[in-house]
Amino acid sequence: MPLDLIFCRHCARSRPNFLATLKRLAATHPEDIRLVELECMAACDDVPAAMIETEYFPRANPREFEQEVLKRLRTVQGVTRE
Ligand code: FES
Repeated sequence: MPLDLIFCRHCARSRPNFLATLKRLAATHPEDIRLVELECMAACDDVPAAMIETEYFPRANPREFEQEVLKRLRTVQGVTRE
């Protein structure tokens, strides 16, 4: 089951580095990550914001967010692929 990365498509476009990070993660882990684009996630004051599954990350730093996603992938893969 892929890890859902949920974000607002409008706000993400205003933060190209963050959007590029999301797209790169999905492209390099197509089986493990699913991008879920919303019209608005009620996070307009916290841009860029995203959710990893149900956990909310306001004003996300692209590099830190990527590290968090990769950490979770390693955890999931460690559990499911051992
Ligand atoms: S329009 Fe992007 S979070 Fe609301």
